[in-house]
Amino acid sequence: MRVLVTGAAGFIGSNFVQLLLEERPDTKIAILDALTYAGNLSTIERFRSSPNVRFFPGKIQDPTVVRGILEAEQITHIVNFAAESHNDRSLLESGSFIQTDVAGVHTLLEATRDHGLEKMVHVSTDEVYGTIDVGMFTESSPIEPNTPYSASKAGGDLQVRAHHITFRTPALITRGGNNYGPWQYPEKLIPFFVTRLIDGKKVPVYGEGNQVREWIHVLDHCTGILAALERGKPGEVYNIGDVNERRNMEVVKILLEETGRGEDLVKRIPDPRKGAHDKRYSMSADKARSELDWAPTHPFEESLRATVRWYSDNQDWWRAITAREDFQGFIRRFYGPSLGDDL
Ligand SMILES: NC(=O)c1ccc[n+]([C@@H]2O[C@H](COP(=O)([O-])OP(=O)(O)OC[C@H]3O[C@@H](n4cnc5c(N)ncnc54)[C@H](O)[C@@H]3O)[C@@H](O)[C@H]2O)c1
Repeated sequence: MRVLVTGAAGFIGSNFVQLLLEERPDTKIAILDALTYAGNLSTIERFRSSPNVRFFPGKIQDPTVVRGILEAEQITHIVNFAAESHNDRSLLESGSFIQTDVAGVHTLLEATRDHGLEKMVHVSTDEVYGTIDVGMFTESSPIEPNTPYSASKAGGDLQVRAHHITFRTPALITRGGNNYGPWQYPEKLIPFFVTRLIDGKKVPVYGEGNQVREWIHVLDHCTGILAALERGKPGEVYNIGDVNERRNMEVVKILLEETGRGEDLVKRIPDPRKGAHDKRYSMSADKARSELDWAPTHPFEESLRATVRWYSDNQDWWRAITAREDFQGFIRRFYGPSLGDDL
């Protein structure tokens, strides 16, 4: 297999490349990443010099770059992780989300079709389903995204669907739950909170922290994507989720315990969304379990505590990011009004 992995200088993509190198050592991997604020060469330093990995800087929505790599590297498969991926950033500016999450997916689909590739896996999210009070979404639930981010991901998903129906492009979709684990950009909830708690800073919780999210360890997500790459059927959608539903405040309590901090470091802040905040995400992964012969193996609480320890042990990596002006600028802009002196 010769795989183009896009967005692999980010959180999940870098974990996926590491998994491929360990579990499928014959695979040749080309990485295409635009190195946005979320993509960092330091995240892929550990395997960049592997003879099986080649790195190409560039955007997935650039057809010349994508086609050049497919030809030069004789690519047979694509796994697309590249995305603007932060919901909170999409509240401030959403144009780039459309460019990458919709137009970029379209470019990859056209290239997959024109170059006769064997398969393209498009990595999507449970957030495209919207919010659900009771029960669980399945792959046939309607798509009802509620934020600019989830709407842009849904736009990419619909491009995949239409391309497969119209042209029989061999593409499929995986939809993951909220991921946690090593190498996550430190503005996302878990690393943001852990890194602030390590420094004894307050963490901002929206309202009572009652929003329910379903968590999956990044390596379980990656084994699900690999199963879809190897055994998934083009045109299908596979939910890759674990059944770890937790209220945000329950997660925060574990982070406080593991960092040895108290509830005095929790600051309740008003939600910046003027409309509704998605209350609960929940989806069934029965189809992936039965049709892809996949199952998650990381118990939530134990693995979350191990994740906290990873951030504690790898401070050089995240401190180089949190010291940057672009990181601090976002935090000031987004949390400044509510955190005030506690910023
Ligand atoms: N993080 C989660 O909890 C989660 C859950 C489900 C699905 N997903 C999806 O998984 C994928 C990866 O998420 P992540 O958390 O690793 O994101 P991330 O923000 O950590 O990484 C995204 C990567 O894509 C790159 N990128 C951005 N725009 C690009 C472009 N136009 N061309 C090429 N590269 C570009 C960035 O430089 C970065 O390296 C995304 O598609 C996201 O929607 C994430």
